[in-house]
Amino acid sequence: MPAIAIIGAQWGDEGKGKIVDLLAEKVNMVVRFSGGSNAGHTVVNPCGEFRMHLIPSGIFHREVTCIIGNGVVIDPAVLLEEIEELKGHDVAVDRLFVSDRAHLIMPYHLLLDGLEEEARGSGALGTTRRGIGPAYMDKAGRLGIRTGDLLEKGAFLERLRLVLDQKNRILTRVYEAQPLVLEEVYEKYCHYGELLAPFIRETDLMVQEALERKEKVLLEGAQGTLLDVDFGTYPYVTSTSTMAGGACSGLGLSPMKLDGIIGVFKVYTTRVGSGPMPTELLDETGELIREHAHERGATTGRPRRCGWFDAVVGRFSARTNGFSSIALTRLDILGVLPSLKICTAYRLEGKTLINPPSSVAMLARCEPLYEELPGWQTDISPIRRFKDLPREARNYVKRLEELLDCPASIISVGERREQTIMVSEPL
Ligand code: IMP
Repeated sequence: MPAIAIIGAQWGDEGKGKIVDLLAEKVNMVVRFSGGSNAGHTVVNPCGEFRMHLIPSGIFHREVTCIIGNGVVIDPAVLLEEIEELKGHDVAVDRLFVSDRAHLIMPYHLLLDGLEEEARGSGALGTTRRGIGPAYMDKAGRLGIRTGDLLEKGAFLERLRLVLDQKNRILTRVYEAQPLVLEEVYEKYCHYGELLAPFIRETDLMVQEALERKEKVLLEGAQGTLLDVDFGTYPYVTSTSTMAGGACSGLGLSPMKLDGIIGVFKVYTTRVGSGPMPTELLDETGELIREHAHERGATTGRPRRCGWFDAVVGRFSARTNGFSSIALTRLDILGVLPSLKICTAYRLEGKTLINPPSSVAMLARCEPLYEELPGWQTDISPIRRFKDLPREARNYVKRLEELLDCPASIISVGERREQTIMVSEPL
């Protein structure tokens, strides 16, 4: 199975970083295809504990080539900082490559993300303020600047002059903010360009050639399906395609080349930022999960909203992505609870829904219908075989498989690599 995508199946933060880190030792290449430094993967391994925003988790494996594809938007300051941090821990970065077609986060994107959020007032989306939305707007609006542009200084200056003129008019006239100085931005980004030049490549070609050589390529998703710009809880979404389909356009890969899609689900639900979340727990059970699992955003440090597993959005996610198997994470966390609930349907104005409505106004009015399962109330983190799990934990997993209509290939019972139950071989 040469090309396998790892996709967040909920609202992000499902634990994709650990799953990629785990599988990376069996592959030749790990590639990021969407999002930017709004993503935050926490990886704990023998090299240390790392919070990565842009660089694929595969970087910790000496033989693995890591690629940041064209679908990613790159803040060069963040990327260079991550490169330095890895070097500081003796992690080699000579196998890291960045697409020449990836768009850059520019200083005005960072400013506008904050200003636009403030202008939304009580309707704020709760963005990570990493400039993601404004950068993708410019990509679609054909005002973007790409990594490859930094390598052509003369053309870059002309492009920046044109774009900055427009951006400064928005900054000063719409938001009454200070304009940016062309020369300063130009010099800063030329410097970034020099530092990044050794990493910039035609990565689409590199991925295609790796597959022609029958190498194994892992496609690392960012965020989650419910944050997808088309199928997420719009407008409370990120600005890119986070789903399996986005992997192809975000890398320059034919859909015919995708051999498997693993959906990563946390066994309960979390969300950061605004927008409806039908199973959110605003009581002490939600607080217990949050504290026990240290549920805080890896990028912003914001407390994550916690709730029961929502099989309605889960099924939608499994179907729309076409998962070939699922990875279930944080099963150990549920060991603190005496009984567990799973939302199997919604009730809305007297009707039972098994598919989430596209309208967030309707979704916010949906009442979750739960079934209750007994908890196992023991520490399962030392367990490595499915059959050794307490019966209640096995039943919980089986019920999720049934509701999502997809088999579990991996179950994570702790944050470390070895705290994993491999149910079947996903690669
Ligand atoms: P943006 O991607 O920064 O524009 O934020 C849009 C929405 O996506 C906000 O609700 C963010 O909290 C959410 N979001 C973006 N990246 C992540 C992530 O990696 N995990 C969880 N939520 C995210």
